Amino acid sequence: MYKLMRQQMQSLLEGCSLPLPALANCAALLWEHLDRINWAGFYLAKGDTLYLGPFQGKVACTVIPFSKGVCGAAASTRKIQLVPDVHQFPGHIACDSASNSEIVLPLVVHDRLIGVMDIDSPEFARFSEEDAHGLAELCSILVEKVCWKDGLL
Ligand code: SME
Repeated sequence: MYKLMRQQMQSLLEGCSLPLPALANCAALLWEHLDRINWAGFYLAKGDTLYLGPFQGKVACTVIPFSKGVCGAAASTRKIQLVPDVHQFPGHIACDSASNSEIVLPLVVHDRLIGVMDIDSPEFARFSEEDAHGLAELCSILVEKVCWKDGLL
């Protein structure tokens, strides 16, 4: 499945590699292919704050400081956050009360944090190491193929 997603992402980026269209289509791709999820999308970094980017799912909080939540932890540590039970995560931000597990991956381009990919699930422990690996490869495609130089926000 992740191989197919990688191929689709590569071909979606062929005609246009501007950040906003790429992230919008990537959110749609995640939403279409991953089952048992209730939110998939991006938060974009400016200073020490994350701002809501392209996503699929219910409306979400628009501003997240690096010091808060799973997204903030991924942004400040630049490490993948694989959270089997969000209710046990200190400072978790409940945008959708249906969410029980979450995975957040940092997007780092030339040592600059662009933002994070965030996926929520109503199922506890929905995301495995295999998901982390597959999603990290998708993030790598975004990092390498998208033209980030003009920034996003
Ligand atoms: N739960 C996230 C906030 C974003 S929503 O999941 C879309 C967090 O704790 O950072």
